[in-house]
Amino acid sequence: LFGPERKNSKGIDLTDLAELLPLDRAMGQVVKETHQAAPIVGGRARSGNARPILNPADLRRTVGQVVEAGAPELDEALARASRAHEDWSRTPAETRALCLDRAADLMEAELPRLMGLAIAEAGKTVPDALAEVREAVDFCRYYAARARADFAQPLRLPGPTGERNELRFAGRGVFACISPWNFPLAIFSGQVTAALVSGNCVIAKPAEQTPLIAAAAVRILHQAGIPADVLHLLPGDGEKVGAPLVADPRVAGVAFTGSTEVARGINRALAAKDGPIVPLIAETGGQNAMIVDSSALPEQVVRDVLISGLQSAGQRCSALRVLFVQQDIAPKLEKMLAGAMEELKVGDPALLETDIGPVIDEGAKQMLEAHAQRMGRESRLLYEMKLGQDLPPGHYFAPRAYVLDSLSRLTREVFGPVLHIVHWRADQLDEVIDAINATGYGLTLGVHSRIDSTQRRVWERVRAGNTYVNRNMIGAVVGVQPFGGEGLSGTGPKAGGPHYLHRFAVERTLTIDT
Ligand code: NAD
Ligand code: ALA
Repeated sequence: LFGPERKNSKGIDLTDLAELLPLDRAMGQVVKETHQAAPIVGGRARSGNARPILNPADLRRTVGQVVEAGAPELDEALARASRAHEDWSRTPAETRALCLDRAADLMEAELPRLMGLAIAEAGKTVPDALAEVREAVDFCRYYAARARADFAQPLRLPGPTGERNELRFAGRGVFACISPWNFPLAIFSGQVTAALVSGNCVIAKPAEQTPLIAAAAVRILHQAGIPADVLHLLPGDGEKVGAPLVADPRVAGVAFTGSTEVARGINRALAAKDGPIVPLIAETGGQNAMIVDSSALPEQVVRDVLISGLQSAGQRCSALRVLFVQQDIAPKLEKMLAGAMEELKVGDPALLETDIGPVIDEGAKQMLEAHAQRMGRESRLLYEMKLGQDLPPGHYFAPRAYVLDSLSRLTREVFGPVLHIVHWRADQLDEVIDAINATGYGLTLGVHSRIDSTQRRVWERVRAGNTYVNRNMIGAVVGVQPFGGEGLSGTGPKAGGPHYLHRFAVERTLTIDT
């Protein structure tokens, strides 16, 4: 029932000083070093003009340098990966799985270093950085276990006419794995390890904001035994590196996580290619709602709204964007929410006291400021957090909550720490559900209600990949809450779920007349 035997990463206890102090020292050291990322092709890091990566929490600090890939590296990586595929796909699933297990162990051994990079390069808070590394470790071990279960032996099928029938999975060829900056280690590693363990060679294109931690992950995977020609890293811009990678006829599959707009563009590019039909696994954005009725416990709702909407500075695809509150309890709940927001601290994510770090870059900040201006005209500001005077020069944005007259005011995903509240009357539950479905997105959904029939009605009618009742709606756990949406939120299958690897593979049957 629960799939192969496996345990999720324990990480460390951030409330235990004995564990925290060495971690703090090690992370402090990482922050002082300068890190490098470059195209890694055939196991060799290439040189070229480097661009600095600045810490989003303090733009005076350079985290490292990145050399971006050009056409020669792209071509060489594709040629090497294409040649390596036959051997890799014949490598026993057990051997491939062992590489992932070793990578998980190495990531755990390098926990402080990887956490330090997630904080310095992506602006993650300490708990978020820990969760990031744990999730990457979990992906490695989970996909290793799934590959052993599904790929090691052919599946014996019935042979009613006396024939022997078998089905087995095989890698498709060269997979392009294109990932976002907001889970720069976890999603990067999840895509790459799933593709590798299913028997594909991989060309990984990390987000332009976070190549350093991606380069660290590739070094770990090579160290864990993934052959040099089976996995290549091409840091660079989406248009300059991602687009030609996807369009190349040698690419047999694409795993993409990022915005819905870019996923659509990739889908069009794949459709325009001659030759075989290339599958796209796309995990994209959301317009995620939480429905709260008057039976909910207000303290619990406030806690879960803050976690869901503002943790990670709202920069999670799963984050709460629209809070539907039943009118009767709205005044009380909004007062409590504003009071609770006042207690949160925006600041340097490396400090444990910080609740909310910076947003990723100037573009993200400008988008949020433009949205705030529009909301200023079209809604009522419930609360705007104050930014401290002593903040370093970074991409800080003051979290806000607005009360809107209708969800239709929001036309696209607002990727940051902004809560939108809409009121509903007790007789309008179906209208609320219709409005959520009408967005076309279908990623996460929260429900706060102690009425069984309401929980059921919402769950049965809302089209959402992950529904959470009477808790927060972020932080899906690998193998426990397989994650992914539908409609504008993605194609499926769910990451960290039992069917994910299948999409990276072809199925072949063998029938022998005995
Ligand atoms: P993005 O779409 O801007 O970029 C994602 C990746 O695509 C980057 O590596 C980028 O360089 C690359 N890219 C850009 N243009 C490309 C092109 N033309 N061809 C090929 N590759 C191209 O997204 P982002 O800003 O990095 O990430 C935030 C978005 O990701 C949000 O919309 C968020 O909801 C979504 N996201 C979804 C999930 C999920 O599991 N559903 C998880 C995390 C993030
Ligand atoms: N898997 C991540 C979450 O659930 C995006 O928050």
